Amino acid sequence: MSVVVVVGTQWGDEGKGKIIDVLTKDADVIARYQGGHNAGHTVMIGEEEFVFHLIPTGILHRGKICILGNGVVIDPCALINEIKWIREKGIEVDNNLFISDRAHLVLPYHQIYDIKDEKRRGDNKIGTTGRGIGPSYTDKIARIGIRMADYMDKDLFYERLKTNISEKNLFLVRYYGHEGFKFDEIFDRFMEYRKEIEGYITDTNIILKESISQGKNILCEGAQGTMLDIDFGIYPFVTSSNSTVGGVCTGLGIAPGKIDRVIGVVKAYTTRVGEGPFPTELSDSVGMRLRDQGKEYGATTGRPRRCGWFDAVVVRYAAWINGIDRLALTKLDVLDRCEKIYICTGYQYNGKILKEFPSSLNIIKKCQPIYKEMDGWIEDIRGIDSFDDLPENAKRYIEEISNIVETDLSIISTGQRREETILLEENSFLNNDHSNQYKWRDT
Ligand code: GDP
Ligand code: IMO
Ligand code: MG
Repeated sequence: MSVVVVVGTQWGDEGKGKIIDVLTKDADVIARYQGGHNAGHTVMIGEEEFVFHLIPTGILHRGKICILGNGVVIDPCALINEIKWIREKGIEVDNNLFISDRAHLVLPYHQIYDIKDEKRRGDNKIGTTGRGIGPSYTDKIARIGIRMADYMDKDLFYERLKTNISEKNLFLVRYYGHEGFKFDEIFDRFMEYRKEIEGYITDTNIILKESISQGKNILCEGAQGTMLDIDFGIYPFVTSSNSTVGGVCTGLGIAPGKIDRVIGVVKAYTTRVGEGPFPTELSDSVGMRLRDQGKEYGATTGRPRRCGWFDAVVVRYAAWINGIDRLALTKLDVLDRCEKIYICTGYQYNGKILKEFPSSLNIIKKCQPIYKEMDGWIEDIRGIDSFDDLPENAKRYIEEISNIVETDLSIISTGQRREETILLEENSFLNNDHSNQYKWRDT
């Protein structure tokens, strides 16, 4: 048995979906612990691309249990649409999906607040996905949120929703000039949604407790990334949850001592969507080339991702915060055409060299990256599945990343597809029981 956590080490979109899909072969349960439908996790099977926003990517594999934990915020409409879409692809969604009765709802007023707040911020906007995620977590912390368990209790839901809508309308109408939400309309609509999702709602903590005591393998699917974490990211240019490993404990009810391994997913360069400082950003043609080669457009909003060189200060910081045991390096093939590749080893700030990621927004904005230059390999490595077959310069680049981040690698991804992967270890779940051997899903 083991509990393995997959976290993003940069600003999200590191390729967590692909890595989780590869690891799912040895997992019994796949669980999301935070975030909402702001996430976009891509899995490529053959020529078909699947983008998941809420439901764990493990749903693609028959016979696996998928969980949305209490730390996730859920828009029932987005959930229903995703279930519908998955079913249309011929994938079973029934006794394999369980949603925590402690998870909070994302309601229509959350999305409107998200959009209006961003507009009001003007040049200081965060660049959110506009899905209502921040406002839903705001209500959770303010203790006026509505949990799935409250939603399943018609009278309680009626009462909470009525109070919330009248309070939200006060500000929305007066300050934002919005027409306001009509309680009856939202209540009726949500009672319709309820019929479609009530079968999935349960106390997922009990499923996890039983699974762990039965010796099953649990894979915790992180969304976003360390630099978007509400506590450890570049505040306020962050998401509203703990995307780092601590979120597993609070968002699933798995105690720290039960976590056996943390895998940090890291892109071979850096990207970010939305606003906020980004020390290694390339605003020139090199950055545009990375965007083109890496098809760096948001999986949720379609926005172009900002691109830059690998920032080892960021990834070393992520390794410490998350207690990362192994790295999974993705998108190495995107660097195939680069003659020179750069790794940021520290920042120059005010005549000093910083090796640790600073907290002050003003300092971060003024940090100048210090680069180590490396030779590229100018060779097509896409699809290579053995370390020995990589060009020497690619091996040097990988080894440099591992050394500078002081963490071993267990996976190298050389393409979007499952099979375009170099596995440096047999099994990330640290057990030798192969009775649960993986079979590719027939598609
Ligand atoms: P996530 O949010 O961390 O799951 O990442 P996204 O799915 O948002 O973005 C990663 C993108 O890179 C997706 O389009 C993946 O299909 C793609 N991808 C993942 N690994 C590789 C790789 O090794 N090479 C290439 N070329 N693309 C990859
Ligand atoms: P995955 O799981 C990349 C970013 C948004 C914005 C900030 C706050 O696919 O890696 P929010 O809507 O969460 O309030 O936006 O966080 N963001 C992501 N960036 N990948 C994601 O998820 C993201 N989820 C949110 O662009 O900068
Ligand atoms: Mg993504």
